[in-house]
Amino acid sequence: MTFPKNFLWGGAVAANQCEGAYREKGKGLSIIDVLPNGVHSTPTDTVEEDVYYPSHGAVDFYHRFKEDLAYMKELNFNVFRTSIAWTRIYPTGMEEEPNEEGLKFYDQLLDEIINNGMTPLVTISHFDTPLYLSQKYNGWESRELIPLFEKYCRTVFNRYRDKVKYWIVFNEINNVHTMPYAAAAIREDKAENEAESLRMRYQAAHHMFVANAIAVKMGHEIIADSQIGCMLSFSGIYPNSCDPRDVFRTLELEQRSYFFADVMMNGAYPYYAEKLLGNTFSQLEILEEDLNLISSYTNDYVSLSYYRSTTIKDGMMTTGHTGGIKGIDNPFLGNTPWGWQIDPLGLRVVLNKLYDRYGKKLFIVENGLGAADEVVVENGEKRIQDPYRIDYIRDHIQAMAGAIEDGVEVLGYTYWGPFDIVSAGTGEMKKRYGFVYIDKDNEGNGTLERIKKDSFDWMKKVVASNGTNLS
Ligand code: BG6
Repeated sequence: MTFPKNFLWGGAVAANQCEGAYREKGKGLSIIDVLPNGVHSTPTDTVEEDVYYPSHGAVDFYHRFKEDLAYMKELNFNVFRTSIAWTRIYPTGMEEEPNEEGLKFYDQLLDEIINNGMTPLVTISHFDTPLYLSQKYNGWESRELIPLFEKYCRTVFNRYRDKVKYWIVFNEINNVHTMPYAAAAIREDKAENEAESLRMRYQAAHHMFVANAIAVKMGHEIIADSQIGCMLSFSGIYPNSCDPRDVFRTLELEQRSYFFADVMMNGAYPYYAEKLLGNTFSQLEILEEDLNLISSYTNDYVSLSYYRSTTIKDGMMTTGHTGGIKGIDNPFLGNTPWGWQIDPLGLRVVLNKLYDRYGKKLFIVENGLGAADEVVVENGEKRIQDPYRIDYIRDHIQAMAGAIEDGVEVLGYTYWGPFDIVSAGTGEMKKRYGFVYIDKDNEGNGTLERIKKDSFDWMKKVVASNGTNLS
């Protein structure tokens, strides 16, 4: 099994799930700062005193990033994905001038990543739009967000032009459909009916497509060798049976995700847009100049998160959350403790499908196993035994290698949550992904001590061998 020589191995986090320090040095409130139990819970209107909000302290990466990045270096990682919190740079999104203290923080963070031998991979917007923009404009439903985002992008591209080559504009943009508050800062409960909610979500998506095109244009102008990616949640979906109706319904649901990348990678709304959105499509405000931008500035690569797969039966109701669409469990697969079905071969399927469709390099920027790891004390030493995590990663790396052998170009693999962070879906700490355990619980108690898990040493060897030593 041979990975390309310059294959990027690393870890991925998001500012709002690890940094904490939610009001430090002028940071404004983001949509996540009023969510008590993750992206599916109902936001409070403002920060309430008697409510615990996990993002406020998170795992204190803001103050401890040197320690955490030293672990990443020890893992031999050569890339590290994190996001910039928009509200550290523009606290409400409306300011004319950026917050210098926020910019300085990311100067230090990016320098530390680079000094530890890693290439930064930076997400510009990862589920943390300024709360002010959500409340004033209902988030991306409004065209007003485009110039505000453009201003933010210009600031970070200019400031970090010598530090960052790899960028992702919006995290999991296709979650605008299933998680509109997190992905697009929309209060869906403002819609009077399902048709209005659909219109809101896809109007927001359209504004984000335009903003994405502007970011691609500007990124290329400011940073000559930059690579600006789009990012999809793309866990696998299979027909529940060979009944052609199940097969067709599965195709339709896949189109719901492809839709987003089709616009950003092919530069035009796909042929099935009207079918997918019905009357809603003609109700969207789509200007000719928007379409020109979208067609002229497409992304350089497709990045994706892949965690699991599910099966689809015609006529069934599906739900969606951080792991992707949830249908009926597949009897051939096992589950994580959070009910996510483990399907390594599904990753090979998804990589082939995306490469076949777009013919552009792919970047797996999230994959991982969330589990309720336990600390045991052995000979006076704290230890976390997580063989299930090793199994999960090994099998997914093998599947990724298989896709590369199939001819798919894969730029790299960043494991999600290489040190424990707050779960986006539920706001829990108990759902742990890391190679490094962090002592904090769901209620916010704990010393924040960092402890290596058994998977740490295993992963270190995997990366050192460029993915060949998986034993
Ligand atoms: C992705 C998100 O949807 O899934 C991450 O980009 C998130 O922010 C990850 O953390 C895993 O989901 P969860 O709910 O287990 O944290």
